Amino acid sequence: MTIKSYTNKKYCYFANSGTTAFYVILKALRRISKKTEVILPAYTAPSLILPIKKAGLKPVLCDISLKTFNMDIKSLNKCINENTLCIVPVHMFGLPIDMDAIMKIAQQYSTFVVEDAASSLGATINSQPTGVFGDVGFYSFNRGKNLSTLSGGCIVTDNEEIAKEIELEYTSLPKLGLNARLKIAARLIALAVAVRPLFYTILYKKISKLKHTTLHTDFDSFIYTNFQAGVGCALFGHASKIFNKRYDHGAFLFDMLKGLKGIMLPKLLPHSVSVFNQFPILFGNEEFKEILYKKINETGIESTKLYPDPIHRIYNLGYDLDKDPFPNATYFSRRLLLIPTHPFMDIEKLSIIVKIIKDGLLSGMHVRYDT
Ligand SMILES: Cc1ncc(COP(=O)(O)O)c(C=O)c1O
Repeated sequence: MTIKSYTNKKYCYFANSGTTAFYVILKALRRISKKTEVILPAYTAPSLILPIKKAGLKPVLCDISLKTFNMDIKSLNKCINENTLCIVPVHMFGLPIDMDAIMKIAQQYSTFVVEDAASSLGATINSQPTGVFGDVGFYSFNRGKNLSTLSGGCIVTDNEEIAKEIELEYTSLPKLGLNARLKIAARLIALAVAVRPLFYTILYKKISKLKHTTLHTDFDSFIYTNFQAGVGCALFGHASKIFNKRYDHGAFLFDMLKGLKGIMLPKLLPHSVSVFNQFPILFGNEEFKEILYKKINETGIESTKLYPDPIHRIYNLGYDLDKDPFPNATYFSRRLLLIPTHPFMDIEKLSIIVKIIKDGLLSGMHVRYDT
């Protein structure tokens, strides 16, 4: 199976990252329409702002829902207008967003939908893969994604007009020289070895340093390397195993943690399957979350807090921060903890995390910190 056969899309283009994929799409849409605004959720990968600006477009944020952890449909309705070029629904953490609702709103405004399935490869809605519902969709194969080739991104579409414009952008992307391609191949092999459980425990601190923690200010764009494409094809042969593991780990955490007072889990979209990129837990209390974050990481299992702020507090997009136009995104960013669900996790390790969270909640620690 390949991405093309998996998505059943006519056109499929591979680049060095999800960011480049998004950039190429935006440049293509810009050539088709004179509209200039791009709507995205206020809590998502902040780096999405860079391709929007680089394409000469204006990012417009909408709030997220504290129930679904995804873009809030009511907030989207408020910020869409006649100048909206596209809506960018993001399936955060591998949780499918309601694409029916998004497509209906887009139709009313004759706006494109660019579906960000960077973190949700493998997740489905009504048995269809996320990424195929919008006018155009994209995936990421970066480190930590559901299927990784160290880096990489892919665009899928059936829309002839968009494909034609994408083709023009895509063919102008540079190809890397031999040295750079060899370096990528070496890093990919090294990472594949390092993330195996035996080595990961030893190399954990070194690998953590490889993860991007600083704010991006620009990004490189080039064509995906043949070596990565080969590894990607081989990996895709095992994709269902990888996706099932991620799903099972998320489902286990969901069953063990649902209904507990002091934390919130996402409301899952009906008729959808989430392939958890990581498992999101929203804590009612910020300090309690910090304590549990430390406790979990002391066991050697790496939970993360992801982005410490929503996008409007990271990049200056002209929003009035005192009035906070996106309070849910701000609340969410401070109280989110992500539990790893990758295939090298297992029920034993997840049970340790569940115990730490349950013990913490039982001790009433979270109430003590409430103001
Ligand atoms: C939701 C989302 N969209 C887009 C991207 C960008 O993908 P890449 O890292 O491959 O550039 C990311 C990366 O973290 C992401 O999480």
